[in-house]
Amino acid sequence: MKSIYLDHAASTPVHPEVAEEMMRVMTGQYGNASSVHAFGRAAKRTVSGARDRIAKFLGCLPDEIVFTAGGTESDNLALFGAASMRRSKGNHIITSSIEHHAVLHACEELEKEGFRVTYLPVDHTGRVRPEDLEAALSEDTILISIMYANNEVRLRQTLISTLEQEIGRDAFVINGHQEECLPHIVNISFPQTDTETLLMNLDMEGIAAASGSACTSGSLELSHVLEAMQLPQNVLRSAIRFSFGLGNTTEDMEYTAQKIETILRRLT
Ligand SMILES: Cc1ncc(COP(=O)(O)O)c(C=O)c1O
Repeated sequence: MKSIYLDHAASTPVHPEVAEEMMRVMTGQYGNASSVHAFGRAAKRTVSGARDRIAKFLGCLPDEIVFTAGGTESDNLALFGAASMRRSKGNHIITSSIEHHAVLHACEELEKEGFRVTYLPVDHTGRVRPEDLEAALSEDTILISIMYANNEVRLRQTLISTLEQEIGRDAFVINGHQEECLPHIVNISFPQTDTETLLMNLDMEGIAAASGSACTSGSLELSHVLEAMQLPQNVLRSAIRFSFGLGNTTEDMEYTAQKIETILRRLT
């Protein structure tokens, strides 16, 4: 049986070139970058070189890059760090209701510390309205934390167009904005079934996808993101997130769409 992994947003394989570079550093450059001896200086050169390359790629200053152990730590550092640095200038923070829990929970914590947080709503495509942001701004606003998403992608398009051929455009709903979406993720609802049933059947066909939300994908809770978009119940309860990455092919997408057709036919 074919095995197709479409849950790259939850976890994804390390690119072989990255793994190779990490092996080189972990086994060959074990000095502490703060040590003054030759081993330490070599490690420092590697860290500084990586920082410079990332800054160039992102178009920011090397000093603006802070290495952390992961996403939650980064969000916490950015929010708690910026809030405490600017506390004397104001106490208002703006975010949106569809941020990752690492951001939302940090904001709730900041509220307990006396900050005022505005959680902006989103439209049914999941976008913050610029006029809402403008209206929320005040003299006291010291921090705005709103996620960024951009567009395009071939795997996404192949999955959608094959689904159109296989089950017809009326049988599924693409959640989120069609143009301004993340390149490697598509969230699709199949209102004639429900999320768990479809995920289980896909798994039996060797296809791994996820439920609507990012880090609650293992739970049966409805996604706070899709809920904030105020989607109809049957759309909310049948959402599947497909996220693409290393190793996925357009053939995988065709195969996945065909399997969805078979499953839906079997179920209905
Ligand atoms: C914005 C954001 N913050 C935090 C996380 C969690 O990352 P980690 O598991 O590295 O803490 C994610 C994961 O997708 C994320 O998208």
